[in-house]
Amino acid sequence: MRLATPMAALIAWSFALPGADAACPGYLVCPAVSYPAVLREAPARAVVAGVDAEEARAVKAAAGNGINFGQVVSRLGKALAFDRSLSVRGSEACASCHGEAAGFAGGIAAFARAGGVLPGDIVWRTGPRAPLSLAYAAYAPVLHYRAQTQDFAGGNFWDSRATGLLTGSPAVDQAMVPLTSPFEMALPDVACAVWHVGQAPYGPLFRKVWGLGSLAIAWPADTAQVCARPNDGGADQAPLHLSPSARARAVLSARQIGQTIETFEASSLASPFSAKFDAVRAGAARFTPAEARGFALFTGRGKCSACHVATGSPVVFTAFTSANIGVPRNPDLPFLSESVADRAHYVANPAGEGFIDEGLGGFLASDGDPDPQWKRQAQRFMGAFQVPTLRNVALAPRPGFARSYMHNGYFTDLKTLVHFLNTRDVLPRCGAGGEVGVTCWPAPEQPRNVNVTLTGRLGLSDAEERDLVTFLGTLNDGFFL
Ligand code: HEC
Ligand code: HEC
Repeated sequence: MRLATPMAALIAWSFALPGADAACPGYLVCPAVSYPAVLREAPARAVVAGVDAEEARAVKAAAGNGINFGQVVSRLGKALAFDRSLSVRGSEACASCHGEAAGFAGGIAAFARAGGVLPGDIVWRTGPRAPLSLAYAAYAPVLHYRAQTQDFAGGNFWDSRATGLLTGSPAVDQAMVPLTSPFEMALPDVACAVWHVGQAPYGPLFRKVWGLGSLAIAWPADTAQVCARPNDGGADQAPLHLSPSARARAVLSARQIGQTIETFEASSLASPFSAKFDAVRAGAARFTPAEARGFALFTGRGKCSACHVATGSPVVFTAFTSANIGVPRNPDLPFLSESVADRAHYVANPAGEGFIDEGLGGFLASDGDPDPQWKRQAQRFMGAFQVPTLRNVALAPRPGFARSYMHNGYFTDLKTLVHFLNTRDVLPRCGAGGEVGVTCWPAPEQPRNVNVTLTGRLGLSDAEERDLVTFLGTLNDGFFL
């Protein structure tokens, strides 16, 4: 199913770049070293040339003039989301993993084929999951338990752990996580993000939006050195020695970075609701016969809309609930072999090959669970993941471009994915010699709690599967321009 470009080979490639290691003996941080050449494939403009000229002009103009909050804050948020300098080595922006041309989800085909996940700013560290889209995520409500349906709704992330209970908004809680996550942007201290914003070309605009005091922090003399050390996931997540008042200011400003990014995510720059589906709903366009058949299957015999809700206002194709739909373990995940300490003493995955992603159940059972009542529900949600939006799920910079789908990136094309939902419980389990997706399917990563009423045995023909995929193509933004 995959064209194997082993992740190890891609990472080796990055080390082979001139000066990668030799230039910084004994230390991980090599500001001169950027992402490996493979990342040039990234549609994320951040990786190639930063925010485009039009964005840059708008941000600059706004910095000089008065502020139109509606438009300017979202553009400032885009500048933040496209700024590589917010990572420890300066090589990774939010947009590196949330490429615009791939629906703000992933966007580097070589990595989609090599295990589904993208490396962090420290390139040999990868997390356990494939990127979700940052578009439409800001529409998630605060995570809450619904007694009537006995389920959870809301939050960001595959396991909903960015609950929104910290700041009142899941997207704001979420945006602060990647800045310091060891396998994402890996800053050692969230205050380092604030320091970098102070140095950025859009720093003056940030000050205008959030107040002159927002970046007026007395930084210690060793700030540049401390902020250049990658986060090792250790106990000290605040190695910058700030005074108590400066620390409080930095925490607030970091939250404001999150709020600004959330404004971008919710704005029409990221969530424009401009798909053919929206045009059809508005009576401004018509589905082709195949699209219409696909939509009828989506809401009918395919049962998709039971989870990917296709009604309401706005339609985001999820009610932010969770389910286990039996996705197989992804044996290609590089994370599975990250069980030994790397050179910065960080062990990404102590469980090694035995790792099972428990999704929402894992979060509810963890110490991070904010509500002790919720812990009692954890077992019912082991292996359950948040229903993702389907907007832009087919968006790609060119035909045949691989995207990674599902929490672990197991699928790289939509036809196979729909065939799985259709036949998971029809075909036998793969033993020795079966052909995956043709004569058999592998066992679910977590066999408990698999939803067998809405997925697994849909009785759709091959032509009907294709119609469903055709319909998914109508959810790509950019139909209205
Ligand atoms: C190394 C790649 C990487 C980088 C860099 C990165 N992300 Fe992500 N993003 C991911 C992955 C993987 C997930 C899913 C993780 C999970 O569910 O635990 C994710 C999830 C998200 C989500 C959740 C969407 C939803 O529907 O719940 C949002 C929003 C998001 N990222 C925004 C951002 C922002 C903002 C930044 C920069 C501050 C950022 N990401 C940086 C890979 C990345
Ligand atoms: C029982 C609820 C449920 C039903 C019914 C359902 N899905 Fe999903 N869908 C999910 C969940 C949950 C995930 C994520 C699962 C995971 O990562 O383990 C998902 C993931 C997906 C993805 C991958 C999106 C991404 O960004 O990775 C696509 C595409 C998709 N579903 C399409 C469909 C279609 C088409 C149908 C109908 C044939 C359907 N789904 C029916 C719950 C459902």
